Parts: sequence; structure tokens; C-alpha cells
Amino acid sequence: MRILVTGGAGYVGSHAVRALLRQGHEVWVYDNLSRGHRRAVPEELLIFGDISDTRHLAAVMRDRQIEAVMHFAAYALVGESVADPALYYVNNLAAGISLLEAMRQSDVSKIVFSSTTATYGIPETVPIPEQAPQRPINPYGFTKYCFERMLDDYARAYGWAAAALRYFNAAGAAADGSLGEDHDPETHLIPLALQVALGRRDELVIFGDDYPTQDGTCVRDYVHVEDLAEAHLAALERLQPRQVWKLNLGIGVGYSVRQVIEACRHVTGHPIPTRIGPRRPGDPPVLVADSRLAREMLGWTPRYQKIEDIVATAWAFHRRFPRGYEDR
Ligand SMILES: NC(=O)c1ccc[n+]([C@@H]2O[C@H](COP(=O)([O-])OP(=O)(O)OC[C@H]3O[C@@H](n4cnc5c(N)ncnc54)[C@H](O)[C@@H]3O)[C@@H](O)[C@H]2O)c1
Repeated sequence: MRILVTGGAGYVGSHAVRALLRQGHEVWVYDNLSRGHRRAVPEELLIFGDISDTRHLAAVMRDRQIEAVMHFAAYALVGESVADPALYYVNNLAAGISLLEAMRQSDVSKIVFSSTTATYGIPETVPIPEQAPQRPINPYGFTKYCFERMLDDYARAYGWAAAALRYFNAAGAAADGSLGEDHDPETHLIPLALQVALGRRDELVIFGDDYPTQDGTCVRDYVHVEDLAEAHLAALERLQPRQVWKLNLGIGVGYSVRQVIEACRHVTGHPIPTRIGPRRPGDPPVLVADSRLAREMLGWTPRYQKIEDIVATAWAFHRRFPRGYEDR
């Protein structure tokens, strides 16, 4: 298939691009490089542009005879979305609508969309099933929830095929260390811990150790970025017109912050000093996916189940690129 990947120069998108190419698809990356990296995508595939530019996007889709879109382009920092909600409503919603409009104008009717656990808010039950109530508690989660709802309407009215894949915590990197996670600012636990091991930070702050969990720290479901990419491919290949799939992508196992740090210590051989800080508002104690539906619908089995194996791939990237891609 001929596929346009929005946000394909970002962390998850760049791994999806590689998986699509490996599978023999024809791929174009549409990215404004606001938060992505030139070095994360083959140069000849990159189309520089902003998804808010409907005309440009529609022309790109028509010229390249695009058949489906994978939509990763968004801002994705919860704290930033609380401090500056306009940024999120403009980029994730308004620009997202522009993308849907460009698809309509160029007769592209299949989309796989990056959604998130943040659409659930504070869950009532864990593991979280897809039918759990969606009550996002921050603007980031709310923009993703709204986009999911728009996909329902577009599928019903225009016969589109859409998959909203709700990732839990994306983690890890390409096993050969050639692609990985390089966010600025970095907010994710594993890269932060590895930055301490690299000497880029003195210590790691743990946000709260008095949660009702086995060791008092928050528990999360870490899903390897290459497993996420595989799920995207499967969704693309299996989706049929008028279908809307909403699927959790997680491994169904939770690791506490302390367990993740221990894995980072083991993999790097560095003591990784920590300090206990205050809780972050809105952090639920435990977020773990019930991902049985994704396994069934997509025939998907995450290859990475152990946190140490996930950390080892992230470490391969961070050792190769200790200061990130350095392409800004
Ligand atoms: N990383 C996670 O743990 C996680 C979890 C759940 C959901 N998600 C979702 O997955 C997607 C990818 O996440 P990521 O961690 O790879 O983020 P990322 O910031 O690394 O990648 C996003 C990419 O989109 C591009 N982009 C942003 N706005 C754009 C615009 N208006 N026009 C063109 N390009 C634009 C950025 O330059 C960047 O390359 C996001 O939609 C995010 O909400 C991520």
C-alpha cells in the first residue's frame, strides 16, 4: 500500500515507518520537525509540512496516490497540555481536523490513529478494558478522545475504516540502537534513568512513593515501540470499510517505577541514584492494559514482555546517541 505517515519523524512514528518499509509498503513521512528528528527517517521519504496545511496535505496525498494514513503527529506532554491547553487544541484537534479534511478531499478513507491511555482518566478497574468509561482529566487526553469520536462519525457517514490504538507507555528502541526515543524535554522514565547512567543527570526523581502499590511507586504497562509498530501494520492490513476499532496496546503486565529503575541499574551497571519528590497531580497509582481485544483482532502478540529486555534496547540507542540525534 501507499501510506502517508504523519509525525513519522517522531519516536513511535519512525519505528512504524521502518516496519512498513520492511513489509514492502510505499511510505511517505509528513512532519514539521517541531518535535521529531530528520535523522530518524530516510531523507528521501520526508515531506516537510504541517498537518494544519490542508491544501498542501491534500496535494501530497493526491500526487502520491496515498491509500491510507497513519496519524502520529501530535503534541503529547500531559503537563504541557495543562499549562498551555491552546497548544493542544490547535495542534491535536484543529490540525487533526485539517488532516481529516485533506483525506476527504483526496479520497483517502483509511486511518490508523495514535490514541492513548490518557483518554480513560482515572480508571475504575485495572486491567483497563476498552469499554471502560473515557473521562480524560487533562487537555491532552481530551483532544485524543475527541479525535476518536470524530473517527466514529467519519466512518459512519463516509464509510471510512479507522483504528484508534490506545497505547499505554511506549518504551524501548530498535534493537540495533539505530532508532530510539529523543524527546526535549524528556519526561519518560526509562530515558531519564538512562540519562543518569550516561552522566547527563545527577539523579532521578521518583514522583511519590506512598501510592497503594507493592512498593509505593506508580505501576505502568510498558509496551515496546517495535511491538506498537507491528500492531499498526496489522490494523492497516485487517481493517475493512465502515469499521472503527478502538484497541488497547499494552503487555498486560505492570512494572513499578522502582522495578523499572532496578532494571535500568542492572542493564547499565550504574547505581542510578534516586530522590523521592512529591506526587504529580493526576497520576493514577496503576495503569495496566487489558489488551485481549487487540490480540484477537490484530493477531498481535507483543514480543517484549520483560522490562529488562525493553530497557536493553533503549540502552543500545542511548549508548549510540548519548546526546540524542543531535540534528536540531
Ligand atoms: N510515547 C508514548 O508513550 C505515547 C503513548 C500514547 C500515545 N502516544 C501518541 O503517539 C503519537 C506519537 O508519540 P511520540 O512519543 O512518537 O511523539 P513525538 O513527539 O516523538 O512525535 C510526534 C511527531 O509529530 C510531529 N508533529 C507534531 N505536530 C505536527 C504538525 N502539526 N504537523 C506535522 N508534524 C507534526 C513532530 O515533529 C514529531 O515528529 C502521538 O500522537 C502521541 O500522542 C504516545
